[in-house]
Parts: sequence; C-alpha cells; structure tokens
Amino acid sequence: MAMPAATETGGSRNEAEVILEVHGLTKVFGSGRAAVRAVDGLSLSVRRGELVLVMGPSGSGKTTLLTLIGGLLRPTSGIVRVNGLDISSLKERQLTKFRRHYLGFIFQSFNLLESLNARENVEAALNFAGIGGRKARKRATALLTDLGMADRLRARPHTLSGGERQRVSIARALANDPQLILADEPTANLDSRHGHEVVELLHDIARQQQRTIIIVSHDHRIRDVADRVLWLQDGRFEGFDEGDTQQSALLDTAGVLYGASPQTASPQAAESQRRASQPVAEPISAAPAPSSAVKRGGWLPWRRA
Ligand SMILES: Nc1ncnc2c1ncn2[C@@H]1O[C@H](COP(=O)(O)OP(=O)(O)O)[C@@H](O)[C@H]1O
Ligand SMILES: [Mg+2]
Repeated sequence: MAMPAATETGGSRNEAEVILEVHGLTKVFGSGRAAVRAVDGLSLSVRRGELVLVMGPSGSGKTTLLTLIGGLLRPTSGIVRVNGLDISSLKERQLTKFRRHYLGFIFQSFNLLESLNARENVEAALNFAGIGGRKARKRATALLTDLGMADRLRARPHTLSGGERQRVSIARALANDPQLILADEPTANLDSRHGHEVVELLHDIARQQQRTIIIVSHDHRIRDVADRVLWLQDGRFEGFDEGDTQQSALLDTAGVLYGASPQTASPQAAESQRRASQPVAEPISAAPAPSSAVKRGGWLPWRRA
C-alpha cells in the first residue's frame, strides 16, 4: 500500500504512551543545486515499548533520521519530541543532558574505545552521567553479566568477537537506563549467528523492559521481531510493511472517516520546507559535561529472576 510523503505513520491510539513524535522533519545537506534532502518532511509517532524497524536502500536517509532523533544533528525544519520534550528547542548543553538520560545509541561499527576493556567501556558511559567509582563498576559488571559477558569483563575490544563487542555496546547503550534506544545497522558487521543473538537481545529489551527501540537495518530477520516496519526512500516513508494488517486497517478506517490519509503538515508548511535549501545548523558535538547523579530504575530484571 503506497503512502504519500509527510504522512503520520504512527499508530498512536493512546497519547500517554507516545514516547517519540516527529513532525515534518527535514534535513537538507548543502545548498543550491548541490542540496540533498536527506530527510524530507517525515512524520512519525512511536509508543513506549515499541520496536520499530526502518528499512531502505543505502542513501535513503536512515542514518540522518536516527541522528536527528538522537539530537546529534539539528534539523533544517520540523520537530522531534521525546517524552513530550521538543528537543529542537534545546541548547547544546541541554541536548547533551537529554541524550545522556533518554537515549542509548548502538552503532554498526560498535564504536568502543580500544584503550578500555569491556567493563570500562560501559563504566565510561556511566561516568559521563555523573556516576563513578564502585557504583559505576558494579552497574557495568551487572549489565555485562546479564548480557552473558561475565567472563569477558576485562577483555579489550579487539580480543572480542563481533557479537561480544556488540553486547558491550548494548550494555553501554543501556547504562543510563534510557527510554529510547537508537540502533544503526546493529547486525551489519556480524555473522549470521551473532546477528541473530543481537536481534533476540534487542527484542527482549523492548518487550521485557518496555524500552522503545528504533532500528535502522537491511536485516530481514529483524522484521520478524519488529512491531512495525517503515520503508524509507529518498528521505520519505514510502509505505508500510505489507504484512502489517492492523496498520493497514487503521489507515483504511482513517481514509473512510476523514476522506484521506491523516496529514500532519499543512500544504503551505510542506511547500515552505521544500523551498528551504540551507542547512540551519551544524552537527552538534556530543561532548559530555559533568552532571549530578540521575535517578535510577532497575534494569534487566527479567534476567535476574
Ligand atoms: N554530512 C553530510 N553531508 C552531506 N551529505 C550527507 C551527509 N550525511 C548524509 N548525506 C547524504 O544524505 C543522504 C542520506 O544519507 P544517510 O542518511 O547516510 O543514508 P543511509 O543511512 O540510508 O544510507 C545521502 O545522499 C548522503 O550522501
Ligand atoms: Mg546509514
């Protein structure tokens, strides 16, 4: 079922459960004839505990979308709201704090610090959030243990398998108990078995801990565990997973009731975005700043049971 661009693709029936809202999100790189609309008027809403898979060919804007949601890049126009907070309006310091408390990132290339061992890599994320010393060590150890890495705590990243390295980066992403986890091609550098393990882990984390996970990937195995699959093409959502009958039924109903697919951006707003060809801001540095300790919840409780 083909969808026009800039449509509301969320299934948000209960406002209170919506953790992520994206409206008319646009990112233009470059200017004039060289301008690239990497993300082109996307709207989306995602509920707590949902596992959303974004698929699309190389260059379709997947990474740009994730970095915009993560506040690592400023949009040219449009809004990203996480837990009701409009992150586009935050200053850099506030954004850094926001990322630390609300977000976990998982990358294709793991992005572990080679000079630190597995546990120290996880501890570092806690240290940036103001948790240090024995407390950080204990928490890092518990997380890695829960992820099956108890006997690899002191291993340097280069001595770990790809699957183990991705477990360390998942532990790091979970370190500060984020509500939203963003994963960019998390299985792309893994063999089939380790890729499968990582898919299962992410599925567990979404389901058991009610964390929201957005995964960008070509990996068709993730379709089996995703609550929703979105297709990105040239910076726009092209349509829904043909297997998502509930989603299709909702949209069909909306079509009958409202006479059209639910548009979030007005035609004028869409046109003004289309005309905007200058990036309005530079990528935001992810430099951490010290902060006080944050309130903690339990984590991975299902593995302790
Ligand atoms: N920093 C950048 N500067 C200029 N163009 C960029 C930049 N990042 C991405 N692009 C362009 O934006 C488009 C989408 O890129 P990207 O989001 O990386 O796609 P994907 O992750 O789906 O492969 C591509 O045409 C890419 O060349
Ligand atoms: Mg990418």
